Amino acid sequence: MAQPRFIFGNWKMYGTQASAASLTGALTKLTPPEHVKVAIFPPFTLLAEAGKAKGSRLAIGGQDCSERRAEGAYTGEISAAMLKEAGCAYVLVGHSERRQIHQESNALVKRKAEAAIEAGLVPVICVGESAEQRQSGKHLEIVANQVQQSLPSLAHSDKFLIAYEPVWAIGTGAVATLADIEEMHKTIASLLTYGTSGARTAILYGGSVKAANAREILSAAGVDGVLVGGASLKADEFSAIIASA
Ligand code: PGA
Repeated sequence: MAQPRFIFGNWKMYGTQASAASLTGALTKLTPPEHVKVAIFPPFTLLAEAGKAKGSRLAIGGQDCSERRAEGAYTGEISAAMLKEAGCAYVLVGHSERRQIHQESNALVKRKAEAAIEAGLVPVICVGESAEQRQSGKHLEIVANQVQQSLPSLAHSDKFLIAYEPVWAIGTGAVATLADIEEMHKTIASLLTYGTSGARTAILYGGSVKAANAREILSAAGVDGVLVGGASLKADEFSAIIASA
């Protein structure tokens, strides 16, 4: 069987019920090959609308979840179990916008990833260096450290995904070179132990992926998929990215 390819769309804090209906409507008509796994990550309020895509090849995921397993008095939090009940298959944890804006630590990201796995979700653990960190020449070390400290200890390699997203490439139009992407994916892969199933952990690339560069990025060694932000909000662009998988 062909290696799975992951084409994931992170909507961030964008969208209305109407735009979500039209975007998911367009995406559910697509019939990518079985090994191409397509998922969208809408804001929580649009999960129900996006969830109407159930039965199609389009999966849904949350953009974040609480580290807490049990329900309780945690105002503003959404548990992984709640996401699962809402029809999610995946959840992003440790996106750089959460690490930066909400000061999320590796330790917290790890607890969220573990909570997600326990609830039956596949966490997409996001890592990536800032521009200053790359300029310092310590980017491989820094990302390796993030990976080692954010990985769920109880998990097998096939229970989570990793997304490498250089912070300086997110929403900027600047894309890492193929050589840089390959170097980082190789570094990350070298840190991952194989699970009981022997399955390799898939590593996605993210940061200014669009229809015009998706095919090239997906051809890079060690790239199993892409996490797309801005371009996933446009049906034509995202459909073209899916078609390049
Ligand atoms: P971008 O965002 O594609 O808009 O750069 C990617 C992401 O943040 O996941």
